[in-house]
Amino acid sequence: MNFSRAIKIAPSILAADFANFGAECRAIEDQGADWVHVDVMDGHFVPNITFGPATCAAIRPHIRGVMDVHLMIAPVDPYIEGFAKAGADFITAHVEAGPHIHRTLQAIRASGAKAGLAINPGTGLDGVENLLDLIDLVCVMTVNPGFGGQKFIDMSDKVRRLRALIGARPIHIEIDGGITPETAPLMARAGADVLVAGSAVFKGGSVDNPAPYGANIRAIRTAAEAALGAAI
Ligand code: DX5
Ligand code: ZN
Repeated sequence: MNFSRAIKIAPSILAADFANFGAECRAIEDQGADWVHVDVMDGHFVPNITFGPATCAAIRPHIRGVMDVHLMIAPVDPYIEGFAKAGADFITAHVEAGPHIHRTLQAIRASGAKAGLAINPGTGLDGVENLLDLIDLVCVMTVNPGFGGQKFIDMSDKVRRLRALIGARPIHIEIDGGITPETAPLMARAGADVLVAGSAVFKGGSVDNPAPYGANIRAIRTAAEAALGAAI
């Protein structure tokens, strides 16, 4: 996987049909998704429960490209091996999930996966600075984690400062929550390259009628790329 800052759209299967994950993953990739974003919630770190490593392992054969696993769980460390074995390419843990994020990131890399660090809207960049050599991705949350379909919280300023902090390091900036063709340009302009979108990708479509997925993905990508073009 070569590092690139080109815009990548990562549909979140939180907005997919939970009884049909395999077909949904194939459908979004066929319709132009770059990565597949997989939201794992434990009912403890966040007030919602989704699924764990067994489901990730079951959907892995249905994903050709990157499986991007976002862990909204605490503790994280006992489950890293399980998600790595399930075939996660990226495993992202929250800085807020425990006192030893440095150890967690080391363990993710040791498992063979790429390491992501997620930060909630209320968390600053102080906790990120000392971890830059341990991470492959920073996920800037633009909603409080736990549910799809929430209202976007503008984190442009944080993303801009993070982009400067990262400099030339090969670290992705991912944005998660409330991304639409209206909000994507703000984030792309601020320096994000991976745009996660759940509701805005899956709305209007289904595995039997996947064309709207493609139209929705293109609308987000076009808006983000146009903003970059305008910034140059
Ligand atoms: C929020 C999740 C997100 C979210 C994205 O806790 O991490 O991935 O589901 O969904 P939308 O795009 O609907 O905000
Ligand atoms: Zn997510």
